[in-house]
Amino acid sequence: MIEIKKVISEQDIAQTAELAREIWTDHFTPIIGSAQVEYMLEKFQSPDAMARQISGGYEYFLAVVDGKNVGYLALVPDAAVASLMISKIYVKKDTRGQGVGHKLLNFAISVCRERHLNSIWLTVNKHNADSIAWYERKGFENADTMVQDIGNGFIMDDYKMVKSLGPRKARREASPPIE
Ligand SMILES: CC(C)(COP(=O)(O)OP(=O)(O)OC[C@H]1O[C@@H](n2cnc3c(N)ncnc32)[C@H](O)[C@@H]1OP(=O)(O)O)[C@@H](O)C(=O)NCCC(=O)NCCS
Repeated sequence: MIEIKKVISEQDIAQTAELAREIWTDHFTPIIGSAQVEYMLEKFQSPDAMARQISGGYEYFLAVVDGKNVGYLALVPDAAVASLMISKIYVKKDTRGQGVGHKLLNFAISVCRERHLNSIWLTVNKHNADSIAWYERKGFENADTMVQDIGNGFIMDDYKMVKSLGPRKARREASPPIE
């Protein structure tokens, strides 16, 4: 069974940072090179960076299977524009293709439903082809390009992808017919 556990304690944060280092080093080194991976891990995914993000409104969650951390998710809800950013969604290489990503995405959708947010957006590196294809299969559309200067001569060269969440089917079905 896949459990989703909110990252709260220092120990949770340390475990998430460890998982981030493993996944990012493996997945992003061929895409952006090891110097940028190291820089981004330190800037965005160190325990200190994660703790600061959580204080600023990020919500991190671990996916746990049989007591092992196999993936993580970071969400940034923005009630002012009724939208949710998926800041991070990562699954360990040896656990991909088993529905953990699907479960994490469904969890993000359920957060939107609970908080009356009607779209989800994220950014994805333009060369991260498998993940782009996965997002498209999950109903995300390419909405824009985003190039962000992250310092030290590095940029993030991304697509912005958006998934709109219509009203829940059950709710539509529950509405009385217009006569
Ligand atoms: C994108 C990602 C989060 C999806 O997580 P996941 O747990 O693999 O997702 P799922 O198991 O729900 O879906 C994987 C899909 O690929 C298929 N698949 C089969 N074997 C697979 C494998 N070995 N690896 C990956 N996908 C596989 C699955 O059948 C499934 O197909 P579907 O989308 O038609 O349902 C995960 O692959 C990942 O962490 N990728 C690398 C990091 C990354 O780029 N993250 C996004 C950054 S923006």
